[in-house]
Amino acid sequence: MSEISVRRLNIDLSQGFPQHWLGGDAFRSQLFNALSMSFPLGEQFFIDSVRAAQPQISDPQLLQDIRGFIGQEATHRHLHAQYNEQLFRQGLKYVMEPWVRHRLRMSEKLSVRSNLAITMAYEHFTAIFADVLLRDKLETAAEPVKTLWEWHAVEETEHKAVAFDVYQATGGGYTLRVAWYVYVWLMFLIDVIGQTGNNLYRDGHLFKPKTWFSALGYLFGRKGLMWDLIPQGLSYLRTGFTPWDRDNGALASEWLQRRSGSYRVLQSAGDTEAV
Ligand SMILES: [Fe+2]
Ligand SMILES: [Fe+2]
Repeated sequence: MSEISVRRLNIDLSQGFPQHWLGGDAFRSQLFNALSMSFPLGEQFFIDSVRAAQPQISDPQLLQDIRGFIGQEATHRHLHAQYNEQLFRQGLKYVMEPWVRHRLRMSEKLSVRSNLAITMAYEHFTAIFADVLLRDKLETAAEPVKTLWEWHAVEETEHKAVAFDVYQATGGGYTLRVAWYVYVWLMFLIDVIGQTGNNLYRDGHLFKPKTWFSALGYLFGRKGLMWDLIPQGLSYLRTGFTPWDRDNGALASEWLQRRSGSYRVLQSAGDTEAV
């Protein structure tokens, strides 16, 4: 995609939303809630990692993409923090936070390139989820969270190659990219399983058979998440992988056109020097 714009979404999260906002399904709602809880800290880390590499970049197009990336992730953080406030009001708690903060402190000791490799691994996961989501797996979601997730997925698709391009431009290679990817897979699984389990425990649905049947169906059923996650996840291991090998930009463009009344473009990345 050629231009990465920052947008303001016309939604109001202050009135809250149903506890099981995703089709009344406890497992799916709490899985997405767990992801949302990780975004404010995670997306700040992505911003910091890319910003740390900025002095090494001279390509004007890539510098423009970086500004767009930072602007988009900053707005995601902001809205997901509002979303998370509602989750805390519903009685949920971000229990993985101390463990995530510990890892963030450790990452301060890593090289710029390693932090970029971690960022682009997470960005690849995010891009896979975004692709799945934009192919209509949130049909039964309640507003305003439906719009929030769709908008986030659109922008994750738009900027999915930025961290990767910055990594390549700083001379990053295959071995480091894949080594950190394996690490991120492990961390991602621990974080998501731990937080989703705790969310379900707190809302009283962890020990209900219905929850587990739903989880099995959503993950491993005929149209289950795993059948996207596994092949797209493995594609990252190819030596010549690039994020746009899977050219799904049309999914994002289609949403932006169809839902043009739901947002306002704050800036095109090229219009301003600072976000
Ligand atoms: Fe994001
Ligand atoms: Fe992102």
